[in-house]
Amino acid sequence: MVNVAVLGYGTVGSGVYEVLTQNKEVISKRVGDEVNVKYVLDLREFPGDPVESVLVHDFDIILNDPEVDIVAEAMGGLNPAYKFAKATLEAGKNYCTSNKELVAKYGPELIALAEKMNKNFLFEASVGGGIPIIRPLNESLTGDNITEISGILNGTTNFILTKMDKEGSSFDDVLKEAQALGYAEKDPTADVEGYDACRKIAILSSLAYGSHVDFEDIYTEGITKITDVDFKYTKKMNKSIKLFGKSKNVNGKIYAMVAPFMIDDEHPLFSVNGVKNGILCKGPVIDDIMFYGSGAGKLPTASAVVADVIEEARYLNSHIKMVWEPEKIEIADIKTDENKYFVRVEGNADAKLAEVKAAFGEVEVVTVDDVTDEFAFITNVMAHEKYEEAAAKVSGIKQRIRMA
Ligand code: NDP
Ligand code: HSE
Repeated sequence: MVNVAVLGYGTVGSGVYEVLTQNKEVISKRVGDEVNVKYVLDLREFPGDPVESVLVHDFDIILNDPEVDIVAEAMGGLNPAYKFAKATLEAGKNYCTSNKELVAKYGPELIALAEKMNKNFLFEASVGGGIPIIRPLNESLTGDNITEISGILNGTTNFILTKMDKEGSSFDDVLKEAQALGYAEKDPTADVEGYDACRKIAILSSLAYGSHVDFEDIYTEGITKITDVDFKYTKKMNKSIKLFGKSKNVNGKIYAMVAPFMIDDEHPLFSVNGVKNGILCKGPVIDDIMFYGSGAGKLPTASAVVADVIEEARYLNSHIKMVWEPEKIEIADIKTDENKYFVRVEGNADAKLAEVKAAFGEVEVVTVDDVTDEFAFITNVMAHEKYEEAAAKVSGIKQRIRMA
């Protein structure tokens, strides 16, 4: 029998428990041994819930039980998750987690510890919810040198942007809805300010390029400045706005960023709506490959955690190689990153165009009938630094969004 302990009985942890117990027969068959949930750890009581029979409040019970083979964590945060992960691996047990904060910060250290102990530290659910992306990067795409990853990596913000775009909903109302549906982080600032997507692109980039991409080095903008007026322009232009986590290797220089991007209806990620996430990888061998699915939510995320449990149950005593070296990759300065920009300016286009052209050169002007006292323009491709220089010469800029 393979015994599992689940840490955290919130949105994801309760889903993991549900899938492991309800699908026990098929899971055990796929492992070739019975997979049993021996413990669930949480701070709270759950009166009347079937979990009561396995509920514990003291992690040491799990750590000190030699029958526990796999610990699946869905508590979130760094503390005590880091302490628990380290202690679990040091005790000769396997660990898997949906916790991207933990993986982005301590990934290389915990992978190295797992390797030393001949155990596994897996984290499929840490990026893209239910989408298999970590295992494909670590196993299926390993014959290629990935050159670019662009992803809609946060379900909450994609849910908000989609509802603002398609239903004209208000930012605050949709955020509350996303929280009620269990999509958002405990502190939703992590979602709306892009910090969650930042950790996810750091994890994907580290695996794709093989060395540590530190999330703290990644330029990050969230979606809090996106307004209903921006969507009036996108509607006219058949475009949409998505929060992207991006990284690319340009002649050996690694760029990485998180920011809202305006994309047109032919972009492969244009139709990734609601809580869905989409991840596009490019490489000279694979060309383009895209991954799509639910980026957050109880059962889709549980699916990814359970897949890790199954993998660890199959390889209980052998380490699955994962290359994420601790040496930091130097991230190229955002100032040199090149994009077109969509810019909204106060005033009348006829009166202001000379000022805009003097700063930016030729631009494409966009106006929308029911948006008065302002206009928008689209720049040519320019480096971030050049954009900032030009923008400083134009008064009344209200908004700027990169275009992809
Ligand atoms: P929840 O807040 O719903 O669940 C976390 C659970 O863990 C809560 O029940 C919490 O108890 C419990 N917990 C916290 N600290 C401890 C502790 N020290 N000991 C025991 N139990 C503890 O979070 P989610 O399930 O939404 O998320 C969990 C993790 O999964 C996070 O890292 C998140 O980023 C990640 N994730 C979430 C997804 C989602 O769709 N929700 C998708 C992919 C990843 P209490 O409530 O009392 O604090
Ligand atoms: N808060 C995260 C999101 C959960 O909305 O994408 C999944 O990682």
